[in-house]
Parts: sequence; C-alpha cells; structure tokens
Amino acid sequence: MSNKPIVLVTRKLPLAVEDRLRRDYDPRFNEEDRLYPSDELIQRAAGAHAILACHTERLSAEIIARLPDSIRAIANFSVGVDHVDLAAAKARAIVVTNTPDVLSDATAELTILLMLGAARRASEGERLVRAGEWNTWSPSFMVGIQVTGKRLGIIGMGRVGHVTARRARGFDMEIHYSDVRRLPSDREAGAIYHETTEDLLPHCDFLALHCPATPETRHLLNAERIALLPDGAIVVNAARGSIVDETALIDALKSGKLAAAGLDVYENEPNINPAFRDIRNTFLLPHIGSATRETRDAMGFRALENLDAIFAGREPRDRVA
Ligand code: 8YV
Repeated sequence: MSNKPIVLVTRKLPLAVEDRLRRDYDPRFNEEDRLYPSDELIQRAAGAHAILACHTERLSAEIIARLPDSIRAIANFSVGVDHVDLAAAKARAIVVTNTPDVLSDATAELTILLMLGAARRASEGERLVRAGEWNTWSPSFMVGIQVTGKRLGIIGMGRVGHVTARRARGFDMEIHYSDVRRLPSDREAGAIYHETTEDLLPHCDFLALHCPATPETRHLLNAERIALLPDGAIVVNAARGSIVDETALIDALKSGKLAAAGLDVYENEPNINPAFRDIRNTFLLPHIGSATRETRDAMGFRALENLDAIFAGREPRDRVA
C-alpha cells in the first residue's frame, strides 16, 4: 500500500499535471471528466486526504460539512473561490488554496478578445460567413466601433485587471479604474483612479469587470449603474456572471443603451439566459478565460505546489482559508 496522500481529482487535468500527480500522490482521477453530483463527490472523497477541485464543484457549507474527516485540503484549480464556502472549510480546519497569477495573462488576453469581438461585431460577421450568407459589401456593411484610443474602465484592478490595462495600452486606451484601494503610482502607470464604481462609470467607453465574486459584488452592475455608463458603451465580463444583473444587461443591450457586450461568464453556466443568444449585439464565449495549454498546465502545477506544501507541513503559497 502506498503511503502517498490520496487526492480526489474532480475533473480531467492536463496530462503533465496528471503525470506529476501519479508520481507524488495517490490520485483518484475522473477519466470521463464527468461533473460529479454532490453525493457522489462526497462518496468518492471517502478516505482521501485532499480534493483537487475546479470551479465546477459547488463546495457549499452543507457539502463541506459532509466531507470525510480524512480531508485536509481543497486545492482549487482556479483563481476564483466563490464555489467554496471558505468559512465552512475553515471551521473544519480544511486548508483551501487557489491558483492566482498564472492565469492573469490568458484571462486578460481573452478580455481583449471580448472587447474586440463585441466592438467589431465578430459573432455576427463569423456567422454570416459560416452560413454562406455573405453576399454583399458596402461602406455601411457591418460597421462596428473602434477600440483604439477609447476609455477603458476596469472594476477591480487586481492581477487580471492590471494585465488587461497593460494590454489595452497597446490600443492607446485611456485607463480608468475603481477598486477598494488605490494602487501605488508605479503600478497605476497613469491609470485614473475613481473611488467608487459610480464615479468610474461615466468615464467608460468600454467597461471590463475583473473583481472577485463575493456577496458584496453580486449584481454590482445593475440597471442603476448601467444608466451611469455613456450611451453606446460596451461591457465585457471574464470574471464571474454573478457580478452582473443579467436582466438589466439584456434590457440595456436591447434598448441600445449599450452598444454591445462581450461575455465569457454567466450567472447560470452552462445553461445561460437564452436571451443572450437571441440578441445581435453580444459576443459570447463559454468560460474559457484561462483555457490555454500553457495556463492550464501552470494552474495544475500551482495547485500541486500548494498540495506539496500542505503535506510537507509548510504554509501553502496560495492559502485562502
Ligand atoms: C477557469 C476561472 O475556468 O480560475 C478561475 O477562477 O474562472 C477560470 O479561469 C477555472 O479556474 C477552472 O476551474
């Protein structure tokens, strides 16, 4: 019998990460990459020492309370930890970690894609060509909005927000941001700070959401705040769906208050509000912010680094509870 820690790996991970798990742990893999219902997850965790989880696993207080006593850690393969009840884990002395930094480039890259895709009507154009329905051209054909030189407002200037700002400067965008605190000026790099979301919104031709999903940020972008954006603004979200009141967003897209939206995340994934599909001015992606080969490997290794530390009796680098 191996004396390596047993790790329940909830989803299929990159091959190199699974190899490393085989080498240093006693992994229980999910070969089918099936989403385990909660009861099954709890059963599969029997006798395991850690769970390597993704954001698809809802680890609510109720589920955490039912985990076996053998579980010492939940190492998340994600930077967001809104799927885990951190207080409940803490109460059971289960250490929780995440994977910050390593996905900032990929997610910021995708945010830029959302801005470009939404502004330049990429979905509409692609659909037209693919359907064999492109049969004309004129100066007024598929005219979108230019990104270059516009004002980009960022809510949440953390790791991802910061990289998005850097990339957006490549488009000569003027960066505005709001956050709980102002960045030191060298990190701000000329970005204009607004103490409140309400102060920020009137300055955004584009608005990118990069704050964590918490009870405080739920429906942060609601009808009242959308009204504060300039007419014809574009909203992009690669953070979490819960930050946006989707009904308000859909209304604003339909009324023309907003020119377009680029979304990678939704309140109810993967069963998104069908209205998003029916509106012309949305550019929609299926939660792939961090889905690059490089980043998925890095996320896996970072989660393992955290597990290594926990089982070596050291403080893990990315402890969140
Ligand atoms: C990933 C994410 O899809 O890390 C996050 O918080 O939302 C995404 O980048 C997720 O991590 C996979 O669990």
